[in-house]
Amino acid sequence: MIFSHLGYTLQYENRKEKGSIMRDFKFHVNTAILFGEDQAHAFAKEIKKLGNRALVVFGGGSVKRNGIYDTITSALKEEGVEWIDHGGIEPNPHIESVVAGVEKVKAENIDVILPIGGGSTIDAAKLIAAASVTGGDPWDIVIRKNKVTGALPIATVLTLAATGSEMDIASVITNPATKEKIGWRSPMVLPKVSLLNPAYTKTVSPYQTASGTADIMSHTMENYFSVNDDAFMQDSFAEGLLRTCVHYGPIAVKNGDDMEARSNLMWASSWAINGLLNTGKTQAWSVHPMEHELSAFFDITHGVGLAILTPRWLRHLLNEETAPKIARFGHHVFDISKKDTMEMAEEAIDRLHYFFLSMNIPMTLEEVGITEDSLEPMAKACADHVGGTIKGFVDLHEEDILAIYKASFRN
Ligand code: NZQ
Ligand code: ZN
Repeated sequence: MIFSHLGYTLQYENRKEKGSIMRDFKFHVNTAILFGEDQAHAFAKEIKKLGNRALVVFGGGSVKRNGIYDTITSALKEEGVEWIDHGGIEPNPHIESVVAGVEKVKAENIDVILPIGGGSTIDAAKLIAAASVTGGDPWDIVIRKNKVTGALPIATVLTLAATGSEMDIASVITNPATKEKIGWRSPMVLPKVSLLNPAYTKTVSPYQTASGTADIMSHTMENYFSVNDDAFMQDSFAEGLLRTCVHYGPIAVKNGDDMEARSNLMWASSWAINGLLNTGKTQAWSVHPMEHELSAFFDITHGVGLAILTPRWLRHLLNEETAPKIARFGHHVFDISKKDTMEMAEEAIDRLHYFFLSMNIPMTLEEVGITEDSLEPMAKACADHVGGTIKGFVDLHEEDILAIYKASFRN
């Protein structure tokens, strides 16, 4: 396919040999979304249909300080749902917090899991839900030693627009003892219902807002930059999501109370990762496995790690073959128009880098406290975790991963 307008031509057919036909797929996302400012009671009614005793999972206390916890638990009370607290979930959630949660589920006869928080809280809740029914050591589910055989129902209250965990089947758990951060997935932990109230994200700090925006963009780009360029509709959706982030991310960073920005970012977070964008595509994600090592070794903020790596990743793989897709991205997301495809692609990568910088994201690994001597062990660990090679937009071996880490270390 040749896509041509505004004076430049993107030649898609040059990647045909890798298979450009949309693959067979099943798309089924059975999460009820309750979106808006006046949905807490409707949400509590949905919970009542799922169970009578909830484990309310939350993080370091933001939901208590900003009143979200009180709003939700008052609504539970009115519906006659009892609850037990399970607070203290860490950003990059630790396996120990999951193990403690499973013990509470058993001791307290819990029948529904109710995370109130960001991706970390929801991800921990997913493993609590699965391990409570499946049994065994929860970490064995993460490392695929134990298959998920069931899960308690999950209902989420999202407080940070970023991961999309509110509408996906994934969860990422950290084991500090082994310095591992590993994603696992099961359709059984897809939330049954998620409450998306953009007003709940007003108290998210500018740093976490910028990081969340970068995470949404990364999910979108992981799906967008693929060997299959004929998924034209999905890619056009992706460009719309990326434009949404580029437009509203800086607004929300500057003014946390801007509800138009908060609403758009919140809804974008769910659609970036709920499966729509990668329907018909088959390739693995590239930047996420590389970032997971940064968080595992140094406990850094996920979205910040992605923002640092992504422009360097694109720069590393830029060549005649990949340039047309990167140029298309530059045109549709940053309104770049040039005659030369390679120049357009280069400018697109620069614009992406400066966009993240404009939201005050520290754009080097050094600035977030990563040490130079850790780059090699992290590259090795990443290659080990992906079975040797990341089979993404362009295949990445250990030496490529190390080169991308090195390019990201300092400007
Ligand atoms: O812990 P509390 O006190 O709640 O504070 C949190 C935390 O410090 C704070 N926060 C959340 N909502 C807030 C708020 N502060 C003020 N007001 C609010 N309304 O923000 C901090 C970060 O929270 P966290 O949940 O860690 O952030 P995020 O949503 O970015 O989640 C990151 C985790 O999700 C994983 C990441 O790897 C990381 O572990 N991911 C999960 C995915 C999935 N399930 O599909 C996919 C992603 O790619 C990602 O890997
Ligand atoms: Zn992510």
